[in-house]
Amino acid sequence: MDKLVIEGGKPLSGTIVIQGAKNAALPILAACMLVEGKVTIDHVPKLLDIDVMLNILRELGCRAEHDDQTVRLDTSSLHSSHIPEALMRQMRSSIFLMGPLLARFGEVTIYQPGGCAIGERKIDLHLSGLEALGAEIEEDGSRIVCYAKKLMGAEIHLDFPSVGATENIMMAAVLAEGLTTISNAAREPEIQDLQHFLNRMGAKIIGAGTDTITVEGVEKLTPCSYQVIPDRIVTGTVMVAAAATRGQVTLLNTCPSHLTSLIHVLRRTGVQIAVDGDIIKVGTASRPKSIDRIVTSPYPAFPTDLQSQIMVLLALADGVSVMKETIFEGRFKHVDELARMGADIRVDLSSAFIRGVSRLYGATVEATDLRAGAALVIAGLAAQGKTVVEQVHHIDRGYDRIETMLGRLGARITRFSPVPNNTIVP
Ligand code: EPZ
Repeated sequence: MDKLVIEGGKPLSGTIVIQGAKNAALPILAACMLVEGKVTIDHVPKLLDIDVMLNILRELGCRAEHDDQTVRLDTSSLHSSHIPEALMRQMRSSIFLMGPLLARFGEVTIYQPGGCAIGERKIDLHLSGLEALGAEIEEDGSRIVCYAKKLMGAEIHLDFPSVGATENIMMAAVLAEGLTTISNAAREPEIQDLQHFLNRMGAKIIGAGTDTITVEGVEKLTPCSYQVIPDRIVTGTVMVAAAATRGQVTLLNTCPSHLTSLIHVLRRTGVQIAVDGDIIKVGTASRPKSIDRIVTSPYPAFPTDLQSQIMVLLALADGVSVMKETIFEGRFKHVDELARMGADIRVDLSSAFIRGVSRLYGATVEATDLRAGAALVIAGLAAQGKTVVEQVHHIDRGYDRIETMLGRLGARITRFSPVPNNTIVP
């Protein structure tokens, strides 16, 4: 397993171009199963999660190439809608394939994706949404088989604005007969990107970005080319790293309007943020101020995917901050690791009480999940001394060579990969 070794204490400085959004690319790649032909998707970063998704598409009979940041798919030879359990286990987001494969083949077999470090990750809203469209679902242990002779438009209300369930239902409804409305839909920018992509192929969807989405079913779609939006969570991660190291960083290819809540919080800590089109400038030279209370909630509120990262900044703040996590029940696993670096954080159920300290100290820490791992990298950059972050594969799921990205901003960070005889070399 790879490790990252970080020499902390150096302010980040310089300019960086942000990668395309993982959480937009994954549903868009799944949506390609709705159309027969060649599709080109640009700004798709090289990530473990993207690799798994492309392997699943190949397993189903797709031709898939990923060169630099462009994915080229040919879905003409798609011949299966049975997603192998082993691949489902590798990435729970393969659940996004249910809607498109059901719409294309009238049948799809998946396996319970199971929970992960951050929570149970239920899929009941996905399944009930597809049932509302006329699907029959048979569960046999972990295997789930879903049939539908013809999907019919329906009025669907989500008990919780689930991002994945909203996307799955949208994709299934595109080829359904009649009108589908999804109320209490998730409003994330990645859902708007999915709507734009589907409509470019001839779908008729309106309302993405609001809590009510309407889909008018069409007979078929036409292949297209598309470019994915910038990754708002990678953008936010770099912004927090710049603030935590008291640096000066310019970020290019961003969507500032997707980060309103983070920009608001960073400004409240005293960080200077300047926005100009798709450019964000972040700078500070002083110790951050604490924030009374931050609550993670569905977009456009403060995103759960930036909770662990902002906690590092607050761990260095002058005062006590309170963070409440309302989306995932297991998303405080980075707290114990930060404590090993000198952070003073107490967790009580879904709240973390963060008493800022003047300094963090390097230590050997373990990434438990994608965003917790990113937070530990930020902590290592800000800490005094050397930090070793283990289990780096979690981070590679969502960040395209994080050490190269941060190295461009002056970070002293090196990846070490074990070789067969178990000695570690850079
Ligand atoms: C998406 O996950 C993102 N992943 C997550 O990003 C993100 O944290 C999450 O949305 C919330 O914004 C992708 O887009 C690939 P949800 P998703 O369905 O769709 C409960 C990252 O770090 N729920 O909105 O799985 C669920 O248990 C990842 O990039 C049900 O109860 O999130 C959770 O508590 C992590 N039943 C809450 O809703 C369901 O059927 C939010 O889940 C579905 C979800």
